Amino acid sequence: MLHSGAPRSSGTRVVAVLLAGGIGSRVGHSTPKQLLKVAGKPIMMHTLEVFAASPRIDEVLIMMNPGVIAELDFLREHNLPIPVRVLPGGATRNETTQLALAAIEGDETKVLFHDAVRPFVDHRIIDECIDALDRFDAVDTAIPSADTIVEIDVDGCIAAMPTRGVLRRGQTPQAFRTEVLKSAYEVANLDPDFAATDDCGVVFNYLPDVKIHVVEGTPENMKITDPIDLHIADKLFQLQSATLSHSVDDLPCFVGKNIVVFGGAYGIGQSIVELARAAGATVHSFSRSETGTDVTSRKAVRSALASVRECGQQIDHVVVTAGVLNISDLNDAPRKHINGTVKTNLIAPAIIAKEVHADLRASGGSLVLFTSSSYTRGRAGYSMYSATKAGVVNLTQALAEEWEDDGVRVNSINPQRTDTPMRKAAFGMEPPHSLLTPEAVAAVSLRTMASEITGQTVSVRI
Ligand code: CTP
Repeated sequence: MLHSGAPRSSGTRVVAVLLAGGIGSRVGHSTPKQLLKVAGKPIMMHTLEVFAASPRIDEVLIMMNPGVIAELDFLREHNLPIPVRVLPGGATRNETTQLALAAIEGDETKVLFHDAVRPFVDHRIIDECIDALDRFDAVDTAIPSADTIVEIDVDGCIAAMPTRGVLRRGQTPQAFRTEVLKSAYEVANLDPDFAATDDCGVVFNYLPDVKIHVVEGTPENMKITDPIDLHIADKLFQLQSATLSHSVDDLPCFVGKNIVVFGGAYGIGQSIVELARAAGATVHSFSRSETGTDVTSRKAVRSALASVRECGQQIDHVVVTAGVLNISDLNDAPRKHINGTVKTNLIAPAIIAKEVHADLRASGGSLVLFTSSSYTRGRAGYSMYSATKAGVVNLTQALAEEWEDDGVRVNSINPQRTDTPMRKAAFGMEPPHSLLTPEAVAAVSLRTMASEITGQTVSVRI
């Protein structure tokens, strides 16, 4: 037992089992896929957090690949709001399920089996599975199939084309009355021809009288299976973080917090300074025009930070909005511009990150960097700018991993076109309704600081 919080649901006990006994060979990494990091954390941690946050679940059982079970020792230091046990999984998924069943006391329990590599499961699905067990002994989660499903014969030719409207793609959770799934496995284990299947398949094949209800899943509740799924999952986490509100009202409280902003003289940086002050923070703003701070100079960054430390204040958050945008094709770009863009947009965030790490470790704070929508695709006319902004995203992700154990979060903000002096200088006047206000970007930046997210690129859309 890693943590023993008070049981939270009333009525029938509910146990969630995270199936993490596999190796994830199809993803093709040497690390089992459930431990691969996406959005700053191992995939299975995202999944665990969803179940641990459900008031309907009494206990989580993690069935872990025995070869890497020690990798979960870190959970002991994690403040989990729910009892969590970690047990070794089996050689096959069905074996893993049976080991979990053996570890669950009492037959009255409701049990939800969930693939640890489906981190986008949500509370609506979990609740519907639990509720459906009041009416059914077994429950599956599935979504309609967008593709036509064809059955093929041994020659690879179509043997049948079932009507698409009645087909569903199975997901997890799969939920059961414990005694029913135990009975199904008892019968299955007597069958010498028992072939691997998911748990609903075991009930369907060996207890044909049991009706299996189907709860509607979501397209997001994907199973990370192939290499491409890691990219999709990364993007889905970014889209989730895009739901942070743009509103300048009801900002999180920053009273007692110290925020350092590099590039706070104008544009987005200036708005962050103003909004953070309005939200109660003490803000230290540094820029070339205000304080003569050149972010590309380690010495200048050091002396700026020293001036904050001299006030005896810890540093809770550091924001780097300083950046340059020179528009020209690479062929026409002077070397000075090429070097300047790399230095200001990429090397400066790295210098600042190194200099503030110890402060942020002490405060358990966060670093916020700025990227641009051009990070996903290089754009003609500002090749070096887009290249450095892609670099900022990778720097963010890498630092989030390197600093995870120190409790320091690192995120980058990806604002769409924003009404700033830098943009005006580069693109001239544009219709105001086609631009974000710097205040909206600042509001999302403050909410990012106040959140728990790390390793993410938070998009701010018009
Ligand atoms: N699983 C398990 N025990 C096993 C095999 C799989 O608990 N012996 C779990 C996996 O960890 C995963 C889920 O079942 O969370 C779904 O299985 P799948 O996607 O097939 O995972 P892997 O077997 O790890 O993947 P692969 O087939 O690519 O090796």
